[in-house]
Amino acid sequence: MTSDKNRVVIFDTTLRDGEQSPGATMSHAEKLEIAALLDEMGVDIIEAGFPIASEGDFAAVSEIAKNAKNAVICGLARANFKDIDRCWEAVKHAKYPRIHTFIGTSPLHREMHDLDQDAMAQRVHDCVTHARNLCDNVQWSSMDATRTEWEFLKRTVDIAIKAGATTINIPDTVGYTAPVESADLIRRLIAEVEGAGDVVFATHCHNDLGMATANSLAAVEGGARQIECTINGLGERAGNTALEEVVMAMKVRNDIMPWQTGIDTTKIMHISRRVSTVSGFNVQPNKAIVGKNAFAHESGIHQDGMLKNAETFEIMRPADVGLSETNIVMGKHSGRAALRSKLKNLGYDLGENQLNDVFVRYKALADRKKEVFDEDLIALVTDAGADGEGHLEVRFLRVICGTEAPQSADITLRVGDTDHQATAQGDGPVDAAFNAVKAIFPNDAVLQLYQVSAVTEGMDAQATVTVRIEEAGMIATGQSADTDTVVASARAYVNALNRLVMRRGKTGGGDVREISYKDAGE
Ligand code: KIV
Ligand code: ZN
Repeated sequence: MTSDKNRVVIFDTTLRDGEQSPGATMSHAEKLEIAALLDEMGVDIIEAGFPIASEGDFAAVSEIAKNAKNAVICGLARANFKDIDRCWEAVKHAKYPRIHTFIGTSPLHREMHDLDQDAMAQRVHDCVTHARNLCDNVQWSSMDATRTEWEFLKRTVDIAIKAGATTINIPDTVGYTAPVESADLIRRLIAEVEGAGDVVFATHCHNDLGMATANSLAAVEGGARQIECTINGLGERAGNTALEEVVMAMKVRNDIMPWQTGIDTTKIMHISRRVSTVSGFNVQPNKAIVGKNAFAHESGIHQDGMLKNAETFEIMRPADVGLSETNIVMGKHSGRAALRSKLKNLGYDLGENQLNDVFVRYKALADRKKEVFDEDLIALVTDAGADGEGHLEVRFLRVICGTEAPQSADITLRVGDTDHQATAQGDGPVDAAFNAVKAIFPNDAVLQLYQVSAVTEGMDAQATVTVRIEEAGMIATGQSADTDTVVASARAYVNALNRLVMRRGKTGGGDVREISYKDAGE
């Protein structure tokens, strides 16, 4: 039987700490979609953003707060009244709002803020009191707790509890701690701070030494009952604790980690794929739980064992994390209804227009590819979504390439409602295609990342191309899949440009379609 003392609260910060990761910026619509999926999968608390950071963050947190069904909606605020007020303005719409306020308490952070211990202690008191006057649910974080002197850490936690914080977070901001220390720190705080029994202790780990999952679980062993994590471990530097890892570890090894969460684990794969797509951060193939190879058995011995008894090499069933067992899809004569039902099984409930678009692409793909797998369909849906919000669209592309340079590309690009043609040369077909786009849509964006991965196996496999570009400090990522890598590359580039334009629009407060981005489409 689960008793409340064994219930671990899952606090997801994909939309805040995850999105803060350079290049992982998500659009407004994507944030709303991910928040809805998190809510649906049973995440207890969604940290939806940092409301004071930008108008876009404020709008996203406010709307997520309005839409949330079950989850607590939390916003982040630095330890000052302006941040806290702005945060409250955004989260107050939620059925269950939370203000999360923090300051770095370690010597390095105190120096940076030019605050001595007494001044910082006063700040903790004032800010938690202020937040608590606005909201019943307040989380305090002593940032860089694992490098804060023990006595001072204890003092900040004590002050925060007395000022009314309901959750105390002990972040390992730089991924410095180790499991034994992580457990011990929480255990000692609970033992030594007055009133510790009345609040929830949280653990927030970064993965710089690859120990975030172990450190989070160790903190729970020490008495923490909130784990802060992100889907796919998205986050700054080496990322945050991966939600799927801590949740599945507690589920699979409940014999030695007898804690429960409210997560519907069958929703893990879908949300992992969506976060990967919208953030542009591919999941490494051998990533625990959600990597493409996590349930793949290649070697003869393994395959033989698996056929006799799946438990020989599997400690969890693919279905437990939402992977369907059979994944070859319909033939090329399958209809729209079959496609709709298959996509629904994969977690995509499409509107009529998007379904029509995917159906047309599905038919075209089925003509080119012998077998269409689940991953192919997911790539099609992802592509349709990206183009759907676009301002630019690749209508036609032909490249001429061979052993003799230069290669050339003819492109027809739709800009707004008008088609434009251009021919350009380049160092290889992809470069030529990008130059042709630039000839029609001049821009100063610098290519930061160009990545190709096969969606499935086989010579006729589709390639997923991820492109990340940067212009004037703004980063945008685009993805596309096609059996032709050059076509996928051009579309991914254009998708990234669309997002850049959109982001520029948000910053400038204008409408995407009204922005003249350089001399587009003369
Ligand atoms: O890593 C960290 O310390 C944080 C805090 C804002 C909680 O993200
Ligand atoms: Zn963090």
